[in-house]
Amino acid sequence: MTQPPKIIEIKGLTKHFPGVTALSNIDLDINQGEVHVLVGENGAGKSSLIKILCGIYQPDEGKMLYRGNKYAPVNTQDAIKAGIRVVYQELNLLSYLSIAENIFFERLPSKAGLVDFNKLYRDAKSMLEEVGLKTSPQTPVHMLGIAQMQLVEIAKALSGESKVLILDEPTATLTSKEIERLFEIIKRLKQKGVTIIYISHRLQETFEIGDRITVLRNGLKVDTRLTSEVTIPEIVKMMVGREMASEYPYQASVEVGAEVFRVDELIYKGNDNPISFSVKSGEILGVAGLVGSGRTETMRAIFGADPKKSGKVILNGKELVIHQPKDAVEGGICLLTEDRKGQGLILDMTCEVNTSLANLAGVSRSGLMEFRKEAEAADRYVEELAIKTPSTKKWVRFLSGGNQQKVVLAKWLFRNCRVLIFDEPTRGIDVGAKYEIYMLLWKLAEQGKAIIVVSSDLPELMGISHRIVVFSNGKIAGEVMRDDFDQEKILSIAYREYINIGNGKQN
Ligand SMILES: Nc1ncnc2c1ncn2[C@@H]1O[C@H](COP(=O)(O)OP(=O)(O)OP(=O)(O)O)[C@@H](O)[C@H]1O
Ligand SMILES: [Mg+2]
Repeated sequence: MTQPPKIIEIKGLTKHFPGVTALSNIDLDINQGEVHVLVGENGAGKSSLIKILCGIYQPDEGKMLYRGNKYAPVNTQDAIKAGIRVVYQELNLLSYLSIAENIFFERLPSKAGLVDFNKLYRDAKSMLEEVGLKTSPQTPVHMLGIAQMQLVEIAKALSGESKVLILDEPTATLTSKEIERLFEIIKRLKQKGVTIIYISHRLQETFEIGDRITVLRNGLKVDTRLTSEVTIPEIVKMMVGREMASEYPYQASVEVGAEVFRVDELIYKGNDNPISFSVKSGEILGVAGLVGSGRTETMRAIFGADPKKSGKVILNGKELVIHQPKDAVEGGICLLTEDRKGQGLILDMTCEVNTSLANLAGVSRSGLMEFRKEAEAADRYVEELAIKTPSTKKWVRFLSGGNQQKVVLAKWLFRNCRVLIFDEPTRGIDVGAKYEIYMLLWKLAEQGKAIIVVSSDLPELMGISHRIVVFSNGKIAGEVMRDDFDQEKILSIAYREYINIGNGKQN
């Protein structure tokens, strides 16, 4: 068999950061027209490799060839000129500009020296149709939810001519329907000869879409294999260096007690359907639904992050008056948000500061900070959650995406709340660390906490919940007990309220 032509050749690539070697002597060839998957644990070096390919970082050693010629981009413009475009793991949109302006930011269409807004909105609209986002192109980006922002990022990357398209965890926030659409787009691009580099922690989907798969571990390349000649357990073993027993530890021994938390006829701004549900002590309640079905909005309204119109939030039989997040936290409720960059973390602060952020009382006495306690708390969680960082004094900005997510978790675990609401807690987290997080949820359940988990990963939700409530178009459309868990059934409930209102009217 003749060798397919190589579009990118990476030789001996090494990249150091203070205290870590992100990439160590990496050799990697990317074939013209293939979908090449990159996997590895949090902090393995995937995003660093991508950032070197697109000119954000420069390597310390090694070289790259692009279509046979020396390639050494010093900024993202160089990469774009070469035809390499990226959908980054962390969103990079300008939140006060419209969707359309974000998509065409680098080359706004002009007429007679002025921006041609008619053309801009028309072109943007067709890009949005391509990715399946039914929102006006004039909407400012800060009005969008995180999944919708992700779709705008994808539309942006697709809007230019690209020869290589790199997707760094594009599906972390998307649900099955949007992922399907993305995969169709990828297949179409592949037919046109575009080369795709695809990073994801969802191994199932990488096998569905990928031709070859490369595993990185601790900055080293473990191997590159054909997806048709390797299995998921083999890949997991290459990633974590050991075999994993089961994906979802279910602790049947944890006892579910009496009701502790209840939401009664909650109506929040933008949705007139009253929402009611309750959670028992020791119970893990899963919350399923499509993106935009009201799951995140409901949780934010409970927490006081968004205004509610009416309804009650009841903890241990007493109504909590919540006007702002501070009231919720003081009342014993915490919310781990889905958007760690925007809401969960202060990026230019250390892991220590971020860990103690929600529980200053726990690290101070008579109003004075006790830095030793703060450091101890951070140390404990770095260990418990296996957060990969050379020091707890490192700014969170410099941690890999998945490790940032773990710091958000540490912050809320340290707060010691009665009710914990997790919105996409394992988003962007590798298989081994996910397992650790599930074990932590069980530990919290065992302590009698009430736990709510919102997740778009249905197998995950079915793996860890006692019960699942399903949102559909702003309503709770159904509830399923563990013994009756079934993917089809839950999905059909998730779609129910959209079908009821007639053809294609979902938004
Ligand atoms: N700008 C930076 N400054 C310092 N350290 C960095 C920087 N960027 C990355 N690192 C470190 O390099 C290592 C590799 O990070 P990278 O972001 O490439 O991991 P990743 O494989 O993409 O992980 P994840 O799955 O969590 O996204 C990590 O230890 C990270 O903390
Ligand atoms: Mg990354």
